[in-house]
Formats: sequence, C-alpha cells, structure tokens
Amino acid sequence: MSRLVVVSNRVADPRKTAAGGLAVALGEVLNNSGGLWFGWSGKLAEGDAEPQLNVQQAGPVTLATVDLDREDYEAYYVGYSNGVLWPVFHYRLDLADFDAGYIEGYRRVNQMFARRLLPMLQPDDVIWVHDYHLIPLAAELRALGCTQRIGYFLHIPLPPPLILAAIPGHDWLVKGLCSYDVVGFQSEADHEHFCDYIQAEAKAQPAGEGRWRVFNRTIHAGAYPIGIDVQEFRGVTEAPEAAEMYERMKREYSRRKLLVGVDRLDYSKGLPQRMRAFRELLRRYPETRQSATLIQIASPSREDVSAYTDILHELESLCGSINGNYGELDWMPVRYMHRTVARARLPGLYRASRVALVTPLRDGMNLVAKEFIAAQDPEDPGVLVLSRFAGAAEQLKEALLVNPYDTEGTAAAIHLALQMPLEERRERHQSLLATLTRYDVHWWCDSFLQTLGQAEAEETGTPWL
Ligand code: ADP
Ligand code: F6P
Repeated sequence: MSRLVVVSNRVADPRKTAAGGLAVALGEVLNNSGGLWFGWSGKLAEGDAEPQLNVQQAGPVTLATVDLDREDYEAYYVGYSNGVLWPVFHYRLDLADFDAGYIEGYRRVNQMFARRLLPMLQPDDVIWVHDYHLIPLAAELRALGCTQRIGYFLHIPLPPPLILAAIPGHDWLVKGLCSYDVVGFQSEADHEHFCDYIQAEAKAQPAGEGRWRVFNRTIHAGAYPIGIDVQEFRGVTEAPEAAEMYERMKREYSRRKLLVGVDRLDYSKGLPQRMRAFRELLRRYPETRQSATLIQIASPSREDVSAYTDILHELESLCGSINGNYGELDWMPVRYMHRTVARARLPGLYRASRVALVTPLRDGMNLVAKEFIAAQDPEDPGVLVLSRFAGAAEQLKEALLVNPYDTEGTAAAIHLALQMPLEERRERHQSLLATLTRYDVHWWCDSFLQTLGQAEAEETGTPWL
C-alpha cells in the first residue's frame, strides 16, 4: 500500500486541540492511515542559517516541520496567503492588500517546501497538498523531478472567475492548480467556478467525466465536501469530560435556552452580523430577553493581519453594548470568550445548546455546523441556524438556512429555532445526521484518494513556473 504524504501550511499533533477545520480533519485522516505530515512548524527561525527540519512521531503519524524566517512569514503567510488569497477567495476584494513583494515570498516558501520535502519522498508515495498557502507546490516539486501523483484540496471557497481575476498573477496561480493530477473543492459551486475559469481563460477542453485537458495535461477536478468523523465525535460526546460539561451547562441554564457560536475570530465568520441579529431578536421578541443566552467562543487567529484586529474590536464593542442595554442583574444575554476551548469539552457545550449559530458571510465548508449536529441527543436535538453562504449549506438542507446580511431575517430564523416543536427538531436532525454519517471524513478522504489513485500520472515534469 502507498504511504500517504500530507502537506499543509499548518501541521498539528493529531492528539492535541487545534482550532481550524484543516488541522482537525487531517489529524483524523492521518490518525487512521498513518503517514507523513509536512509543513510549517508555526515558529519563526532564529539566526540566518537555513532552518532545521524537525521530525517527531505522533502515534502512527510522522510530523516533519520547518520554521520560517521572519521575512518569509511576513510575505508568504501574513502577506500573500492571508492578505491576498484569503480575502479574495472569500469575496472580500475590499480587504485585499496587493503588495507586489508578497508574491515573491509566497513563491520562495513554496520552493523551499518542495526542496525540503523531496528527499523524504518514497517512489510509491501519494502526495496530498492542502489549501491556499501551497497552490504552486506541485509545479515546484515537478520542476525538481518529482513524478509521484499529487492531489490538491482547497479548504476555502473559490470565487467566480471575475473575482479571481482581480488578483495580479491569477493566471499563474491557476496554472499552478493545473499542475496537480486531481484538484478538489468543497462545493459544487466552487468546482463550477474553477471549470468556468479554465474554460474561459485557459481554453480547457473536457476530457471525460471530471477530466479536463488544459496546459497540455489532463487533470481531474471535482467537489469533495469535507466531513467529520461522526462515530469518533459521538464517542467524545459521551466521554466523561464532555458529559460533565453537558451536565454543568444544563444545570447552569436550566431556566434558559442556550445558543452557541464557536469560530475562529475571522471576518469571514460574520460575527458582528450575528451579534446584530441576536440584538434584533432581543429587541423584536421581548420574551427572549429573559429566556435566551448566547455563548460565543471565538479563538484568536492571525493577529498579525490588521483586518483581524479590527474585527476583534468591533465584536467586543457589540457584545458590550448588547449586555449593557439588555442585561439584568441576574442575566447577561451574551457570554463572549476570546479563546480556544479544549476539544474534549466542545461536544458537551454543543449538546447542551438548543440552537447553534453558524452564520459565516462565506465559508469553504464549516465543520462546526457538522460537529453540532453530531453532538446532539437524537431524542431532544438542537436546531442549526446556518448561513446559505457556507459550503455546508449545499449538503445540510434541513438546517434553517439564513442570509447573514439580513439582520431581521436571521433574527426571525433564530426565533423560529428557539420555538421549534420537538417533532420537527427530531425530523430535521435525523436527516442531517444521515447526511453527515454518509459523507463523513472517511468518505471525503477515500473518494479523493480513489480519484487520485486512478489518475494516470500522465504529464509530469512541466516546469512552467
Ligand atoms: P475554519 O477552518 O475556517 O476555522 P471550520 O468550522 O471548518 O472553520 O473548523 C473549525 C474547527 O476548529 C472545528 O473543528 C472547531 O471545533 C474548531 N474550533 C473553532 N473555534 C474553536 C474554539 N474557539 N475552540 C476550540 N475549537 C475551535
Ligand atoms: O480551514 C481553513 C484554514 O484556513 C486552514 O487552512 C487553516 O489551517 C485554518 O483555517 C486556521 O488558520 P491558520 O492556519 O492561519 O491559523
């Protein structure tokens, strides 16, 4: 059997808590299959020498990481990945900073990753590269003579061609994508955007189901919505730490219905819009004033990028003003925490909540939506209020779908969720859980790797970049 080599910017010990869909999903996949996980250590290098490779064993997974020097960190991670690609791919051209120096750092780090990874590869390895930080990696590996199959999965949305085309060098990026053998997206919508782009801008020709002839090679492209490990998550829900959390929350909120939000603190997550909708709920439906409490947990993220500090201040000010205006001596409407919560406790919190608010303005998938469903008690389940702009909305049709820009509409949906009769909650939950179980993280991994296994390694060694 081939060894799986996963490459991503963020590498996390699968046995520890990680906030971020990619780290959580890949930890689960690799824990099962074993293999090598290569990427950035998350640390900055000291001194001028080329950073050492750190290798450690985490159960069946070998973790191999390199540090980045400050200049590369600023240009590749803060600058190009999170100052250009993240905002544009999330349809936020207004937040993009197209500094011409960033792309050089992005390319430099991708070249360095290729150079450091190559000596660790074995001839039969299957290489799976993840996310927007590493789009040119296959081309860089090919330029160094790598002939193994290489797949790529984009965890975040891909915007329509006209938005993508705002990035200086967008054609170079898409050529980079076309150096892979299989390119996977979270949703059909993202996949369509890719197909539209390569047909319009690169004269791609269909070459059979899911296959395209483009830049003199054949590639596969498709939608492979990422899932969670439902069995494992339900197991964690029943384990002592989550069960204890559940009991505590139930006791504490015995007279109130709990609403929950769990996100990285990111402008794509629509947190201020969510708070405004919650404020509108309290204003428009006075009975909710004493009966509903929102727990919002937002883990710190990318604090070196200025748009993230702006959103932090906006959120703090909204939470403060809601509590100031609506709070009572014995009741605070919002409990806001700016931190990461231990993974073992989250399911208990989800299970104790009547409603989850997952209302991103744009999201590749959103695993919190799926975790919330998996954690529910099927006899008395909570209700998912889900943004139609999350990739998850393509699959989770029985959630209450909302437009997060529509404050009144979202408030009305939250009200509906709080009032929903038990029978309807059960029916919706049953269908949602069935979808989740069918399209879990193993389905995601197996179906992607199966396509990659079938892909003929036709045209390698095309060093265009
Ligand atoms: P993203 O990848 O953009 O962060 P997802 O919803 O797909 O969004 O994945 C987030 C993952 O990180 C989930 O597994 C979630 O449980 C976890 N997570 C997010 N915020 C927190 C937090 N504050 N504390 C603990 N875990 C978190
Ligand atoms: O899942 C989307 C994602 O951007 C991952 O690529 C990333 O690892 C995660 O969110 C957390 O962000 P960061 O790695 O920048 O802390």
